Amino acid sequence: MTSVSRPKAAIADRLAEARERTLALIEPLDDEQLNRVYSPILSPLAWDLGHIANFEELWLVQTIGDRDPLHGDLGRFYDAIENPRKTRGELPILRDAELRAYLSDVRERTLEVLDEVEIEADAEDPLLREAFVYELLLAHEHQHNETMLQLLQMVDGYEPVRSEPVPGAAGTGPEMVAVDGGEHIVGAPGKGFAYDNERPRHAVELGPFEIDRAPVTNGAYIQFIEETGAEPPMYWERDGEGWVRTAMGRREPVDPAHPVIHVSWHEADAFARWAGKRLPTEHEWEAACAGADRERANLDQLSFGTAPAGAHADAPASCGAVQMLGDVWEWTSSDFLAYPGFAPFPYPEYSQVFFGDTYKVLRGGAWATRTNTIRPSFRNWDLPQRRQIFAGFRCARDAG
Ligand SMILES: [Fe+2]
Repeated sequence: MTSVSRPKAAIADRLAEARERTLALIEPLDDEQLNRVYSPILSPLAWDLGHIANFEELWLVQTIGDRDPLHGDLGRFYDAIENPRKTRGELPILRDAELRAYLSDVRERTLEVLDEVEIEADAEDPLLREAFVYELLLAHEHQHNETMLQLLQMVDGYEPVRSEPVPGAAGTGPEMVAVDGGEHIVGAPGKGFAYDNERPRHAVELGPFEIDRAPVTNGAYIQFIEETGAEPPMYWERDGEGWVRTAMGRREPVDPAHPVIHVSWHEADAFARWAGKRLPTEHEWEAACAGADRERANLDQLSFGTAPAGAHADAPASCGAVQMLGDVWEWTSSDFLAYPGFAPFPYPEYSQVFFGDTYKVLRGGAWATRTNTIRPSFRNWDLPQRRQIFAGFRCARDAG
């Protein structure tokens, strides 16, 4: 007889699956590449890997399992707020064989603790209720996989060990679709896993508006660059009359039919004004996303690139927009602010310390986002000048 309950076995399987994916991403790289600093705005991969293990140790072994850490106060070097990205290459972090051993030793202890805890829906500890802390850990590893891909973009000749064709057939339709004004409900419901910043769910009043049916394409962006002299997206360079891009180890001509990606918020905003439109607010975006299906979207990383704009035409949102989920993160006009009645959980450093007018909200996830991470209420945020993230956009305008 086994003492492992079915929900616990499911959690253990999902933890194993997340780790398999993390390790597959770095399988083509040697230790030198894991330790190398490719960009001051990105951590070396060795830091991300140690941070994934350390975050797991902190929450699932120390906090939940009440055990001591394996490496004393090493955890302070893996604190994302204490250690800005540009300093992480110099830190005395675990490397090479020691790093790999840490990942598996922590996991072994995590599974020991999982066997001991109660994760019932009505568990007394809010961290264990609905297995919150395990969902948090899974989401954390998944989200770090996307950060790792931002760096892997820069690795010359990177060859994934596992990839799948880009899903979704392209279709055509009107340039913009309409969304009714009135009261719309935004945010995550009270039950089920979501981050603190998605709550509480609340009503917002929106004016009627139109939104682009599909993300803005490279073709449209080239026109914008040529007419205004704007900077090209990150990873592009001129090639005679045309453009080529180098990303995910490949150099190829820019495909005008694909969504533009690796543009900053400032660039997206300038494009929208040039086009006689504007960026949608995050709540307009969420209203337009209603009815979208994350299982029929270019998510989960294995496509290693975007689908053409207009793909997944057979799985539109209720308003008729396509690719609201997947392909590219979409910049919105909104600052990252607390929802009315916000309460930090499980710690203020997840969202609260970032609230204000410094960061802009992105929605919808990209090809590089794991499916489990994304939902219509999910709010991502970044600095408006950032371009290494997998971000594009679509435009909106007031109706009538
Ligand atoms: Fe993290």
